[in-house]
Amino acid sequence: MSPDTSSTRPSNAQLADKTLNKKVDALLAKMTLEEKVGQLVQFSSGAPTGPGTCRQGYDSMIEAGQVGALLNVADPKKANAFQRIAVEKSRLHIPLLYGFDVIHGYRTVFPVPLGMASSFDPPLVEATARMAAQEASADGIRWVFSPMVDIARDARWGRIIEGSGESPYLGSAMARAYVQGYQGTSLSNPDSVAACVKHFAAYGAVVAGRDYNAVDMSDIMLRQVYLPPYQAAIDAGAATVMSSFNSLNSVPATADPYTLTTILRKEWDFNGFVVSDWGAVGELIAHGIALDDATAAQKAISAGLDMDMESGAYHARLVSLVRTNTVPESTVDEAVRRVLRVKNALGLFDHPYVNENVTPYQATAAKRMLARRAAEESIVLLQNRATEGQPKLLPIGTHVKTIALIGPLADAPGEMLGSWGGQGNPADAISLRAALEQRMKANGGQLLYAEGTQILTQSETGFDTAKQAAQKADLVVVALGEDAPAMTGEAASRAHLDLPGNQEQLLKTIVAVGKPVVLVVFSGRPLVLNWAAQHVPAIMEAWYPGIEAGPALANILFGNTNPSGKLPVSFPRAVGQEPLYLSQFPTGRPAAGVDLSHPPTDGVEKYVSRYIDVRNSPLYPFGHGLSYTEFSYSPVTLNKNSIPLAQIMSAPNHGTAQPVIQAATTVRNTGAVAGTEIAQLYIQIRGASVEEPVRVLEGFQRVTLQPGESKHILFPLSFNELSFINVKSQRVVEPADYTVFVGGSSTATQSAKFQIVH
Ligand code: NOJ
Repeated sequence: MSPDTSSTRPSNAQLADKTLNKKVDALLAKMTLEEKVGQLVQFSSGAPTGPGTCRQGYDSMIEAGQVGALLNVADPKKANAFQRIAVEKSRLHIPLLYGFDVIHGYRTVFPVPLGMASSFDPPLVEATARMAAQEASADGIRWVFSPMVDIARDARWGRIIEGSGESPYLGSAMARAYVQGYQGTSLSNPDSVAACVKHFAAYGAVVAGRDYNAVDMSDIMLRQVYLPPYQAAIDAGAATVMSSFNSLNSVPATADPYTLTTILRKEWDFNGFVVSDWGAVGELIAHGIALDDATAAQKAISAGLDMDMESGAYHARLVSLVRTNTVPESTVDEAVRRVLRVKNALGLFDHPYVNENVTPYQATAAKRMLARRAAEESIVLLQNRATEGQPKLLPIGTHVKTIALIGPLADAPGEMLGSWGGQGNPADAISLRAALEQRMKANGGQLLYAEGTQILTQSETGFDTAKQAAQKADLVVVALGEDAPAMTGEAASRAHLDLPGNQEQLLKTIVAVGKPVVLVVFSGRPLVLNWAAQHVPAIMEAWYPGIEAGPALANILFGNTNPSGKLPVSFPRAVGQEPLYLSQFPTGRPAAGVDLSHPPTDGVEKYVSRYIDVRNSPLYPFGHGLSYTEFSYSPVTLNKNSIPLAQIMSAPNHGTAQPVIQAATTVRNTGAVAGTEIAQLYIQIRGASVEEPVRVLEGFQRVTLQPGESKHILFPLSFNELSFINVKSQRVVEPADYTVFVGGSSTATQSAKFQIVH
């Protein structure tokens, strides 16, 4: 984990600073109602990132103080031009704030967030966010719409690619890392950007994985699973929050006082501001809770939604809503204060402009080095079986002189940037083909390439050429997957999770040639890979690795880098298992031991919680990921076997992060090459007042070991890890039996038990 440098980082408390607030109040006192409302209005200038076309001609609105923020401006000259109007021509000289979707890099594009999460490496994530902040701020962008921390447990949802997967513990660690990277040591540093935690709240749980759909869940589920990463980001100092498109328990999140005020402001003391998602205030009409945009604006601002992104409802209606006493002016004042606090904290009043004469972007060696490391750590080796000639197919041995590289993702640099590629340039991305060509040339071998098929087609015209290439090769690498911009991300939910088009058919054709095959999957979500799992010896999940995709994959294929990535999401056997995730509830009729794929027969219990046509278990479980070496774990030990309840509950704030018990194990590298293991700790609680999931991730550590080397590792457990939400929506510990499991995936078998006692 990253060292604790919290004292040197911006914090939520700093946004409540007295001097800052005095300044803000002084300015507020001078503002007309129209100018106040202007601070709560954001419009897009540039390529739209939502429905509709962007309006033009902001100059006069900015001069009149009717716009507080813009999004999608990614050009320092343009940013300065608008800013000059705001600062030099508007009456109160209040600077604009520029926001942009910087999701996994700005110009230097790193792996998509789901890939970054596979690294289980928060300091690495922080470093990538820092670089993104430096690059974006150089273009005048001081606000990024990231991190996206929505827990996502349904692979059908296209936006699963944008977050850190299914685990609140991992998601919280990643949320903190992004915020710390973006915001740096002080928000006022010119290369710091305000983070925007999104999408609040529970957007990842949309019914049936269909984007923008409703969410209906218990308060226990909300607080136990979905809220922790948002809260972690706010605790790490995130200056802003974006509300989500979905409704939560029948109230659209854009106008939900429970999430925006009760939880965010009252429970979490959040001092920054909340922006709506694109057009979402106006969408309250389509949701059916407002009949016109005036009511939409009134409901949103009253719930605690400070800034209206793009809908125009605040711009058009808020002034008259105040004048007719429908919305108290104090409500508007409070929202304006929040916005001005963030603008002040960013130092925008002192330094509103950006240097226009910057040297054009170059993917320097240092940038590429970080991008490559991130890509290498994000790639997950799903399986690696033995074939003739070698104990395991990977890494590729020196006997391989000719490789055939086949598939529509093999030579697709633009695809490597994934969805939300920021200002990334496909010309900077290195494809697998380019990297392998270079590698084989250096090895004195050759690379044969054939596209084979396109991502989404039924045409088999390319199959024969691909087959011929395979016939001539010692080994075949097949690069398949989804089209990043079209099939993943926002508005890209899928009801089928297979390889699109006829890609599986191409794979079958190539496997039938009889050469050893490695499958590299590029996707923004878990796909159903049953056929490949049975017939292809080696499979890698590459996600979309960013600009250094090719070199990173080549390093892993040839063993220069030992893979270490682990899955942050469960991979299903069938789409019908979705939502599929590790931390399910136990049920009264657990199917343990009868996890069979065929209908119940004699001797197999029928009346258990299972499918009759597919196993309950995932194809590849959460936390799974192979290495070119092996790791062993010694039996888990605990430094005590019981903890008195009072010891925890009587500590101030329950001791929150103060360890009360410690699990320990020794991890040994028992193989022949150095490697990094991500040791994971899971907890199971039995005997509490509420049902607790079968296993929950509550700790992980990266351990790098030379062959034969071992390391004793400790997992300190505090109230944070041991507690859960009870029926009164309180976070508590209770007398209960605890089992901890430690190992290299969620199927870890080493375990130890302790109790919390009265
Ligand atoms: C809509 C998306 O939901 C959100 O994630 C994004 O930040 C905004 N559009 C702005 O582009």
